[in-house]
Amino acid sequence: MRIGIIGAAGKIGQMRVQTVQENPKTTLAAVMDLSAEKAAALAKGAPVFTELERFLDVPMDAVIISTPAHVREPLCLAAFARGLHVLSEKPLHHTVDGSRRIVEAARTARRHLGGGFNMRYYPAFAFVKDIMASGQIGEIDHVRIYGGHEGLPKFAYDWEYKAEISGGGALWDVGIHMSDMARYLLGEITEVYGVATEKVWKVPGSEDNAMAIFKSPSGVSAIYQATWTDWKGYQSAVEVYGSHGMVRGAYAPMQTMLITMEKPGGKVTKVTNRFPGIQIREKLKSWKTTALNSFAAELAEFVALTEGREGLRIADGHAALRAVEIAAAVPESSRTGQPVKLANLGPMRF
Ligand SMILES: NC(=O)c1ccc[n+]([C@@H]2O[C@H](COP(=O)([O-])OP(=O)(O)OC[C@H]3O[C@@H](n4cnc5c(N)ncnc54)[C@H](O)[C@@H]3O)[C@@H](O)[C@H]2O)c1
Repeated sequence: MRIGIIGAAGKIGQMRVQTVQENPKTTLAAVMDLSAEKAAALAKGAPVFTELERFLDVPMDAVIISTPAHVREPLCLAAFARGLHVLSEKPLHHTVDGSRRIVEAARTARRHLGGGFNMRYYPAFAFVKDIMASGQIGEIDHVRIYGGHEGLPKFAYDWEYKAEISGGGALWDVGIHMSDMARYLLGEITEVYGVATEKVWKVPGSEDNAMAIFKSPSGVSAIYQATWTDWKGYQSAVEVYGSHGMVRGAYAPMQTMLITMEKPGGKVTKVTNRFPGIQIREKLKSWKTTALNSFAAELAEFVALTEGREGLRIADGHAALRAVEIAAAVPESSRTGQPVKLANLGPMRF
């Protein structure tokens, strides 16, 4: 598959370039960035553009869009208009309406839209999903899910926390990975009730804390928190409780815990995994190696998605849209004091 990358010179774009260059099924057709110089240094001979239509004139099958969210809509729409598949970073767009227009454009073009929820591929979270599906913890009762870090000092650029560019605060940052994870585990989220606050960092429109309950059509609910005031540092965690046990996945560090029982309240068997190989690799190299591995796995599945394969981990366009709708729904519920109901989108098909 011939892939073009927009925003190739950015922090994430650079990693996307590397994964496309390393995957035997993909070739880097062209790159585009506002900074041609930086992009050229990475492109290893692939043509470099600063102008969208000239970039899209290069023969290719798909684009990865690694720009900030607020410029994504015209890029996605132009790519679909050229008949290309799109893999977009999260959030799909900084607005719900823009995200809906992008999904609609994919549907009209009959092209695949992948959402960049690479944490689905983190071994601890993939383990949680697989255990849930295996039936080992019995009938699923509820999910607890959390994503947070210490907020503004964590960001390299101010656009990353300004709502008019990023969409909002903790809900749109690590929190959006975890709301996607909640939907991934629950199957769908059709009701959101929550509270969002801006007491600490006081960035208008960018909540530093969000607490919510997500309801799914299956009757299983999730309790969720996204925060920019976790002074302990970066952490994301998922716990799924069933009638016959529970499973936990967390990062960083990567770790899992599985508790199983023959009957509710019975003798507990507990298995933990602290992924020593990953911890050593991160210590010797960087945490970025974990992100890079997840981007590589996501790329392989994006290719498989365009080949029509099903049963993949990759987030589709509906997952990307629902994650944005949830990020907007929590503050709305906080303002009105009412739950926000969302339609059942299901998987994206055309
Ligand atoms: N999945 C993850 O783990 C993860 C982590 C961090 C960021 N992200 C997301 O990835 C995206 C990029 O984040 P980043 O940290 O790499 O940002 P960045 O600022 O480092 O890179 C963005 C790049 O896009 C380029 N760009 C901006 N507007 C453009 C346009 N109109 N056309 C072409 N290029 C343009 C910039 O020149 C820059 O090189 C954001 O949506 C962010 O939320 C995802």
